[in-house]
Amino acid sequence: MIEARDLCKTYRVEGQAFTVVEGINLVVRKGETVSIVGHSGSGKTTLLSLLGGVTKPDFGQVMLEGIDLWSLGDDRLSELRNRKLGFIYQFSSLIPTLTALDNICLPTAFGTAVDNPADRAIALLEKIGLADKAGFYPCQLSGGQQRRVAIARAFINSPEVILADEPTGDLDEETEREIIDLFREINAESGTTFLIVTHNKEIASLADRRFAMKNGALKEVPF
Ligand SMILES: Nc1ncnc2c1ncn2[C@@H]1O[C@H](COP(=O)(O)OP(=O)(O)OP(=O)(O)O)[C@@H](O)[C@H]1O
Ligand SMILES: [Mg+2]
Repeated sequence: MIEARDLCKTYRVEGQAFTVVEGINLVVRKGETVSIVGHSGSGKTTLLSLLGGVTKPDFGQVMLEGIDLWSLGDDRLSELRNRKLGFIYQFSSLIPTLTALDNICLPTAFGTAVDNPADRAIALLEKIGLADKAGFYPCQLSGGQQRRVAIARAFINSPEVILADEPTGDLDEETEREIIDLFREINAESGTTFLIVTHNKEIASLADRRFAMKNGALKEVPF
């Protein structure tokens, strides 16, 4: 489904080079759930953004269903990202001037295979327990509620791959449980592939394979 081949990324700040991702190879099969742990600053977010075609690698390739993402032009790459990938960002990423419902529907504005986005968005709001907050703006929602809306948004286009960066970071245990159940349900229903950066033991244990990131490299962690 998604494959990294010898991925490398070095950032340069004030003339100094920092290699954050160094020769990562990874094959994630369709329907698989993969979790990634690692210390703060170890490059987990960078790796997800490389895999999602958001950050361009200095070297190496990202293959999505056999297509080399960076061989595509900008338009084709954006379209593929929009159709096939769902992003749950580590930090707040909602549009402040849009309601919860409109934020969830936003990815469908660029063309979609979803028949009735608003209905699907409402169903997702119900699943995340926020049906009564459809018309609320992000600033009228708590941090955890905003995060749940961002999670719902990632699912609106029924993506084949979800790239989730600490998706339950600021949720209480019960809400966390509900989100884990939602991931499980969507994985079972639609065969969605999940790549999840998380320190949550329960999410990590739900994964088919677990990895740890250290010094720019990814190492599989046995169960
Ligand atoms: N745009 C950028 N320019 C320069 N350096 C960057 C940039 N983005 C990330 N870095 C550096 O890359 C390293 C890895 O950052 P990254 O966000 O991938 O870490 P992380 O593992 O997700 O950390 P955390 O657990 O704290 O979220 C950090 O040292 C950071 O300073
Ligand atoms: Mg991060």
